[in-house]
Amino acid sequence: MKTTLLTIAIAMACGAAVLAGSRFIEAEGAQAEATVALKPASEFQDIQDKRTRSIALFQEAGKVIQSPRCLNCHPVTDRPTQGDDMHLHEPPVQRGAGGMGGPAMRCFSCHGAANFDPAKVPGNPRWMLAPASMAWVGKSLGQICAQIKDPARNGGKSMDQLVEHMARDELVGWGWHPGAGRTPAPGTQEEFGALIKAWTESGAYCPKG
Ligand code: HEC
Ligand code: HEC
Repeated sequence: MKTTLLTIAIAMACGAAVLAGSRFIEAEGAQAEATVALKPASEFQDIQDKRTRSIALFQEAGKVIQSPRCLNCHPVTDRPTQGDDMHLHEPPVQRGAGGMGGPAMRCFSCHGAANFDPAKVPGNPRWMLAPASMAWVGKSLGQICAQIKDPARNGGKSMDQLVEHMARDELVGWGWHPGAGRTPAPGTQEEFGALIKAWTESGAYCPKG
């Protein structure tokens, strides 16, 4: 009986904390639970056919590439999206010169060098929209694959530079440390980098379609 009362008391206290406007606590809880794992690159070693192996590796990496954390900043239109449900960015900011926003609404006027959790504003020193040639939203994984391999559309990157970018770029890395209220990208950046590396080493084949 005592235990029950204690449980109720704790539950009430917790409820009060959440009601006290602490969306932060609520959001942090949601974030921890929703994390999705990535299969390690080593799990694909046994696939004998190189092409099949390569495609399987890219499909696994695609769980990250097509996660809201990446897509929100790689839109086809000039407006980023927000949140796990990828709703249109509010306020309606535009791409602007260099992807940094129009003159009246620069990305940096709201997005700082780091996440600002009390207001749920994500941040990074290079926070800006990916160029239109690197748009991913609404494209199939096969189309994205072909596009990121193409130096004419990937910012002139060689395959080595592409691997380096995926594995170590700090803005890409934000996807795994997105701050309060956002689900991190699946796995870790290290695991993701290893999948991309193994994909290139097995011929960098793209899924069909
Ligand atoms: C805040 C916006 C933002 C987020 C979030 C973001 N990107 Fe980007 N991305 C950019 C910008 C800007 C560029 C172009 C400049 C550069 O290459 O660094 C870019 C370029 C890239 C490129 C270069 C090649 C190409 O064709 O796209 C890759 C690969 C990439 N991002 C991967 C990712 C992945 C993976 C994630 C999620 C884990 C991610 N990005 C999240 C803004 C973003
Ligand atoms: C007037 C302030 C303001 C400006 C200007 C602004 N943003 Fe935002 N942005 C926000 C806020 C606030 C959020 C968080 C909203 C939320 O998630 O509830 C946000 C969230 C985002 C997200 C969602 C991240 C995710 O994965 O959930 C992206 C992407 C983004 N902004 C990109 C940009 C880019 C690119 C620019 C410049 C072109 C820009 N923003 C300009 C206020 C702004």
